[in-house]
Amino acid sequence: MNILDIIDKKEKGAILSKEELEFIINGYLNGSIPDYQMSALLTEIDLLGLTDQETINLTDIMLHSGDVLNLGDNITDKHSTGGVGDKTTIVLAPLVASLGVKVAKMSGRGLGHTGGTIDKLESIEGFQTSMSLEKFKKQVSDINIALVGSMGNLVPADKKIYALRDVTGTVDSIPLIASSIMSKKLASGAQNIVIDLKVGNGALINSLTEARQLANLMIKIGKQYNKKVACVLTNMNQPLGCAVGNSVEVMEAINTLKGKGPADLNELVIKLGSLMVSMALNINENEAESMVKENLYNGKGYTKMLEWVNAQGGNINNISASKHVKQIIAPKDLYISSINALKIGKLARKIGAGRLTKDDKIDLSVGIILNYKTGDFVLKDSPLATILYNDKIITDEEVLSCFTFSEKPVSKPSLIIEIIK
Ligand code: URA
Repeated sequence: MNILDIIDKKEKGAILSKEELEFIINGYLNGSIPDYQMSALLTEIDLLGLTDQETINLTDIMLHSGDVLNLGDNITDKHSTGGVGDKTTIVLAPLVASLGVKVAKMSGRGLGHTGGTIDKLESIEGFQTSMSLEKFKKQVSDINIALVGSMGNLVPADKKIYALRDVTGTVDSIPLIASSIMSKKLASGAQNIVIDLKVGNGALINSLTEARQLANLMIKIGKQYNKKVACVLTNMNQPLGCAVGNSVEVMEAINTLKGKGPADLNELVIKLGSLMVSMALNINENEAESMVKENLYNGKGYTKMLEWVNAQGGNINNISASKHVKQIIAPKDLYISSINALKIGKLARKIGAGRLTKDDKIDLSVGIILNYKTGDFVLKDSPLATILYNDKIITDEEVLSCFTFSEKPVSKPSLIIEIIK
């Protein structure tokens, strides 16, 4: 077999066999296929797609490229395809754990304009984002929840291919996203998988048609392994909640678990939580929803968060804080007609909250707080947004350019678009 023939075959739109896909993935991992040939193939895949069977085969090969964890039965996981202000996991994981769901989770760091749960949690003093497999398993068994950056050598093929996709403009290919996400979820041993599939300008996927294709493909892959998969398509045209950054998002997650969260974040954790609880405990979704709401507002979710942070060495009373604060003032009495999530994510990165390359160091204490959301009415001279910063600054004009305004009332956009399972 030879890589040039395979690239040529794909270029002509032919279907690759499992053996050919295996040859590619193994060759790329062991260095016999160089980056430039792999990127040529990824570009063909991005342009022409893969059949469902090719994607299933690719997922299986990637899944077995490294360790496959067995964390016991009935582990439930949640994955987000990435967005701006997405602190959902920090609320959801302890919330469902407080209801008896076992959450053994591996999360990522932020890259580009999107944030990562691991960076956010590291803004809590002392919080350990790595541990041994034994400790991880014991913590899940003792308190139902453990969350780390990575564990063992999971899906090395995805690590290497994702890094190449990131610099070759092939991140938005539906079959490549499906195989990347599902290989990691399957390798980490989850039985029930809930995916928050973000759609909009701040997300990887911008169109509803593509989001539906991706959801159906991931569900189909899950079925091959007898996993329950549910995809919740959610709006990412404006940031989720009000806080965008790292420590600011942790503070918002804490407030949400104290029953004082923003309406959209509450709605999302209730929906995702109900699906996770109903899958894990085998109960109907309405019953699960009442349980989730109860523990979101009675403090039990927050108590579980304290137990979890404590188990991972964190001090919740000491969260990184910026030196300076500046308010961005509303220019007129107006309704907000949009808040561009992508632009806000990029501005947060500009003050240091995110990375452009995976080796960039981020400033955990800076961020942007939106004091209003799309559809809200703002009075002239009210603080539209608050910037928490240190040494890097952004101008009022840059922040104002993320908003559009209207003199007429604007309806609030729905957050949850649809659920596919
Ligand atoms: N998240 C992933 O883990 N992989 C992708 O390809 C896209 C989003």
